[in-house]
Formats: sequence, structure tokens, C-alpha cells
Amino acid sequence: MDTKDLLNQTAVTEFILLGFGDIPVLQNIIFLMFLVIYMATVARNMLITALVVADKHLHTSMYYFLGNLSCLETCYTSTLLSRMLVSLLTGTKTISFSGCLSQLYFFCALAGTECCLLAAMSYDRYLAICKPLHYSALMNTRFCLRLAAGSWLNGNLATTIFLLFISQLIFCGPNEIDHFYCDPILLMELSCSDTQLSKLVNHILVSIFTLPPFLLTTTSYVCISATILRIPSTTGRQKAFYTCSSHLTVVTIFYGTIIIVYMLPKHDTLRDLKKVLSLCFTVLTPLVNPLIYSLRNREVKEALSKAVSKYGFHKNMQRL
Ligand SMILES: *[C@@H]1O[C@H](CO)[C@@H](O)[C@H](O)[C@H]1NC(C)=O
Repeated sequence: MDTKDLLNQTAVTEFILLGFGDIPVLQNIIFLMFLVIYMATVARNMLITALVVADKHLHTSMYYFLGNLSCLETCYTSTLLSRMLVSLLTGTKTISFSGCLSQLYFFCALAGTECCLLAAMSYDRYLAICKPLHYSALMNTRFCLRLAAGSWLNGNLATTIFLLFISQLIFCGPNEIDHFYCDPILLMELSCSDTQLSKLVNHILVSIFTLPPFLLTTTSYVCISATILRIPSTTGRQKAFYTCSSHLTVVTIFYGTIIIVYMLPKHDTLRDLKKVLSLCFTVLTPLVNPLIYSLRNREVKEALSKAVSKYGFHKNMQRL
């Protein structure tokens, strides 16, 4: 078939997201579970964003990044989970072509931005722990703003280029995507045009836009660990170690599962495992990030209790 024949065929106008299978009872349980997770994720992340914006004590580089990250996670889970919840509730598994592409855009752009923000945060911690004397001079408001803006720009730029190539592809069926969101790789596999170029572009974009933040993050934490090990007092070492190990856990889960899902060779036996593992970076990290990064910090706890007493939730709750 040449391109003309392909164009003459009826093009696919919608895709079917298979999600987690078809057992009715299970669908209800999965729906409730994800509904609770979704509400918890959005509530936690919006709480942190609001605190960072409202409380002057949290106007430091670390909390700016955390505020940005929480803002991002809110959009990120909404992109992926709201769609899944609707389809679990109504049983419709179809998604229009443009719906699929826009979900893909937001998913990729936000994931790309998250890589950069995680890198910016690790660099911020690196300066704070390894170069404490130069910290305030280096991490000033302007630099901080540039890092944050650069992160958002980076993720959106890379995804826009990628989408330009994806939108040129022709789809003439089959149209079933064995996943709960429009996954870029699975989508490319469905195309009946030549995807070699798109795949190449994808690889190039990943290496230009996500490899450097990944390497920066890893290097920062290696340097931080080396510095922490040299701290003479045990309590100081424990405290610093505690903070960094929790950051490292999030970063490892996020990158580790992405690497397993997208870098491991394509294999049918791995397919279901990959689907389950992709829950880690789509659902788990947005849910636990606010807990690990923010809600256990003393400053955030203080800001929270101040906000609670200011707006009188406390009294109302006692009255109830
Ligand atoms: C995001 O980061 C920028 C620059 O550091 C900061 O000015 C802004 O308030 C942050 N946004 C949120 C929601 O925290």
C-alpha cells in the first residue's frame, strides 16, 4: 500500500483505552480506590501550593520549587486520572483522536517539567548542603525564577516538537490501546505510516531534554551523600541523611519505574507488569510527593497550623 491508499482509507477517529480489564465488580473497586487517591492527591497538592503562595515564611527557593511541583502534580494527576475515573464510572472506553493527543501532550509536558523541577530541587539541596557559604548568593530570587521558568519551558518545548511529528502519523486501525492513558509509545505502534522518524525524534528529545536533568539529579545526590558522610556529629548526619534519603526515595521511584517501563525491551510478558509499574509514576509519586517533601517539614507544619487557626477551622471542628 502506498501513502495514497492509506489516505483513502477511513482514518481512525477515536481510540479505545482498555484500562484494567472488564470484570464489573473489580471496576467498582478500582473506581473507588482511584477516586479516593485522586481526591487525596489534589487536596494535598493544592494545600501545599496555597501555603507556599500565602505564607511569607515559605518564600524561599526550596518552597518555591515545592509549590511549583505541587501545582504540577495537581495538573498531572488530573490529566491522567480524571479521564480514567470517568471511563470507569460510565463504562465508555473510547477517547477521541484529539482527546488522546491532548492527554498525551499534557502527560509528556508535565512529566518533562517534573524531571527538570526535581533536578532544580536537587541542585538547590546540593548548594545548601555542600556549598552553604555561597548558597544565598547563588540561589537568589532571579536564578530561582529562571530555573522554574526554564523547567516549564523545557517540558513544553520538547513535547511540542514531539507532537508535531506524532500528529503527522496516519492511523487506520486497529485502535485499541492496552493502557489506561494515551501512551506515546503504544500510540506510535498503532500507526500504519512509517514511525521510524517519530521514534528517532522521540529518542533525541528524551536524550536532550530528560537525560541532563536526570544526570544532574543523580550527581547532586551523590555529592550530597559524600558530604553528609563527612559530617562529624551523629545527630547532624542523621538529620541531613533523613531529609535526603526521603528525597532520594521519590526520585528513585519516579525515574526507576519510568526507565523500566520505557527502556526495557518490548515483550508481551512484561506488558502487564509495565502497566502496573506505570501506576508508580502516574499515581503514586503525585500522591506521596507532598508528604515526603513538604508536609513533614517543620516550617510547613507551622504554616499549616497558623492557617488553620487563622481561618477558624479548628473551632468549627471542635464544635462539630
Ligand atoms: C514557582 O516558582 C517561582 C519562581 O521561583 C515562584 O515565583 C512561584 O511563586 C512558584 N509558584 C508556586 C505556585 O509556588
